[in-house]
Amino acid sequence: MSYGLLKGKKGIIFGALNEQSIAWKVAERCHEEGAEFILSNAPIALRMGELNGLAEKTGSEVIGADATSIEDLEKLFDAAVAKFGKIDFILHSIGMSVNVRKGKHYTEMNYDWLEKGWDISAVSFHKVMRVAYEKDCMNEWGSILALSYIAAQRTFPDYNDMSDNKAYLESIARTFGGYWGERKVRVNTVSQSPTPTTAGSGVKGFGNFLGYAEDMSPLGNATALECADYCVTLFSDLTKKVTMQNLFHDGGFSSSGVTQKVIRKYDAE
Ligand SMILES: NC(=O)c1ccc[n+]([C@@H]2O[C@H](COP(=O)([O-])OP(=O)(O)OC[C@H]3O[C@@H](n4cnc5c(N)ncnc54)[C@H](O)[C@@H]3O)[C@@H](O)[C@H]2O)c1
Repeated sequence: MSYGLLKGKKGIIFGALNEQSIAWKVAERCHEEGAEFILSNAPIALRMGELNGLAEKTGSEVIGADATSIEDLEKLFDAAVAKFGKIDFILHSIGMSVNVRKGKHYTEMNYDWLEKGWDISAVSFHKVMRVAYEKDCMNEWGSILALSYIAAQRTFPDYNDMSDNKAYLESIARTFGGYWGERKVRVNTVSQSPTPTTAGSGVKGFGNFLGYAEDMSPLGNATALECADYCVTLFSDLTKKVTMQNLFHDGGFSSSGVTQKVIRKYDAE
């Protein structure tokens, strides 16, 4: 179903890797709602080639950028401005931890790997906003979003240093959001349920955890498509005064102490 919520809006969507990616679903939904956008990902991800299918489907251009490189980002934003003029929305859907990838335990973390993951998963959000800010390329009432996870507030042991990266990411959204507010642009993070994607499934014990989160969420886990629907509302003109927030999109997980579903499981034992 389409409501034309993003008719005439232009943007940049970072982080669609394959059909499972949250950014992929966001791109599909933004297209259905009438938006035009550039798809961007790291050069190594582009080499996998899957993004071209999405570009074709949504009539979008693909421009590679390592989100940790100011130079790459400057080229990307220059291209966006040349194509669209000022833009209305940005999605940062980027995350990677070398410590998680290599199975390094949190208590024994490798600090070089920490720095790399922190740069990719958190600081890159600052870099994206900094380049957009310096180029003054956001329209008034534009919307900038990044994706987060509740491990920023609560401990989830195997989420490792990504917990700390997400806390930093959410802080950047609040702090930079204050400056963007003066330009009438909003900045938020969406804290999404665990979702079976390449990044999500890389976390140890993800399968069990998905089931636990499902049982601890009265509405059940939010899917990638449902996340995309929520992002559409946050890019639309219906949410103009929502800014500097971390918005939980998790079926009620973040407010639950225990749920009926979990109590029933213990009853059966
Ligand atoms: N999957 C989950 O359970 C879950 C839950 C909450 C939040 N999130 C967040 O959602 C976002 C998207 O992840 P996803 O689950 O869709 O997985 P994904 O693996 O599909 O997406 C991660 C993306 O980050 C990109 N990326 C990595 N390094 C990059 C770099 N240097 N420059 C540019 N792009 C780079 C990857 O190429 C990939 O497209 C991440 O921030 C993730 O932490 C995921």
